[in-house]
Amino acid sequence: MSLSLSIHSTDLEALEADVLVLGVLKGSDGAYLAPSSLSEDSVEGINELLEALGASGAPDQLLRLPGLEDTGAGIVALAGLGSDTAEGQERLDALRYAAGSAARQLVGSAEEIAFDFGVSSVEEIEAIAHGAVLGNFVEEGLRGKTQDSIKEEIDSILIVSSIDQEEAEEALVHALVLGETAKDARRLVNLPPSHLYPETFAEFAAEVAEDYANIEIELFHHDRLAEEGFGGISGVGQGSPRKPVLAVVKYTPENPKAHVALVGKGITFDTGGNSLKPAASMMTMKCDMAGAASVLNAVLASAELDVPVAVTGYLCLAENMPGGHALRPEDIITMRDGRTVEVLNTDAEGRLVMADGIALASESNPDVILDIATLTGAAMAALGLRTAALLGDEEIRDRVIAAGAAAGEAYWPMPLESYLRKSLESPVADIKNIGSRYGGALTAGLFLKEFVGEGIPWAHLDIAGPAFNEEAPYGFTPKEGTGFGTATLVNFIQSYAK
Ligand code: BES
Ligand code: MN
Ligand code: ZN
Repeated sequence: MSLSLSIHSTDLEALEADVLVLGVLKGSDGAYLAPSSLSEDSVEGINELLEALGASGAPDQLLRLPGLEDTGAGIVALAGLGSDTAEGQERLDALRYAAGSAARQLVGSAEEIAFDFGVSSVEEIEAIAHGAVLGNFVEEGLRGKTQDSIKEEIDSILIVSSIDQEEAEEALVHALVLGETAKDARRLVNLPPSHLYPETFAEFAAEVAEDYANIEIELFHHDRLAEEGFGGISGVGQGSPRKPVLAVVKYTPENPKAHVALVGKGITFDTGGNSLKPAASMMTMKCDMAGAASVLNAVLASAELDVPVAVTGYLCLAENMPGGHALRPEDIITMRDGRTVEVLNTDAEGRLVMADGIALASESNPDVILDIATLTGAAMAALGLRTAALLGDEEIRDRVIAAGAAAGEAYWPMPLESYLRKSLESPVADIKNIGSRYGGALTAGLFLKEFVGEGIPWAHLDIAGPAFNEEAPYGFTPKEGTGFGTATLVNFIQSYAK
């Protein structure tokens, strides 16, 4: 984390930055410059120009002007902050989004940027910092001959405020860790299945874990998975020459106040298996390990932040391929908890690997289990691409919603309708892996719930929509992997430290 993130005093003449970003608010009488530390003359000068510049205050708008004499920045940029009536959480969301959008659009043309949105609270500073870190993202990819097109990330972000560095320090560190770990999750999601498969994912996790004295990792390789009854993970993985792995990543602080278990779906590629997906649906399926990527990074973030809560992450890693060794529809597999599952659609593979992870997590009787998975197209059909589906115990759901809101990530509760449980009944096994034609996100949740140990509080996060952005970038969200969920998990874990 070489990015520097700090507070700058309200003396803009002393500022040294390539770009000073100011806010534009939408009012009932048109757009106007948001409060800042700029001189009255400069504010007046810019306000007179706004209409001619086409500045509307709309989110994602960024207009660049030559620098002003009374600031030490070469360029002034005007970022849309949205409506001037936003307050509370809405205002924090607008600040995070605008800072993220500005940073994203300035990457490649600036090294040092400063935000002066006229903020007066530590919460607002954190929202700006978090957005700016997330927006400051370059995906280098795997370029051979076009490396010249790779931009450089911004290396210094300043936030202009009368609040001093010391008072804001904790919020800045929090924003930096939340932002950088989500970006690391994005990079994992973006890796192609040619390079990221269960063994390489596990190896990567083992490598990063080495940097932390209080993180231990245990890898369950193929033979052990089969011997110890993980029929879901080994079953889903059996069609691929790239063997499945279950990686258990454990963070143990001194005197933990609670123990949180996180289970992540790590399908490094989902072809659908023998219930093969059509070609168009297979695109983006490198993102099917996004849950595992956020779990790994949430564990690392907890260690970075010294959170006094023990966290165990279960990364359920497999590649879902078709072929002569792969699961067939109508196969029956035996799961870690002894339950048998009739596999009627090999494309409903996520719940199979997750069930084993949840069953193993339950064996250590944690205070809570959260599972996170790109589980169903049905969740996307219901909630679109920017909101995750949330199922499980109400108290845990409420905690997830609060943790998400503080991170700029949206969750919507869905019911675990008990009448749907019948549709999972199998004539030949304990349960089958597909249910009713309708309510696919709910039956998936009902399936997972079967594997949660009795009395253990639990919630399930279906991030199939928001994990991957196929459309144009917006706000702090880039194309491809978004890192969605990572910050929610960290905030959720931290909620047990209080
Ligand atoms: N990985 C997919 C879900 C998915 C779809 C994630 C699109 C992200 C974008 C999952 O394994 C899957 O294939 N689910 C099936 C389940 C069905 C066969 C019961 C689905 O949603 O169609
Ligand atoms: Mn699938
Ligand atoms: Zn899948």
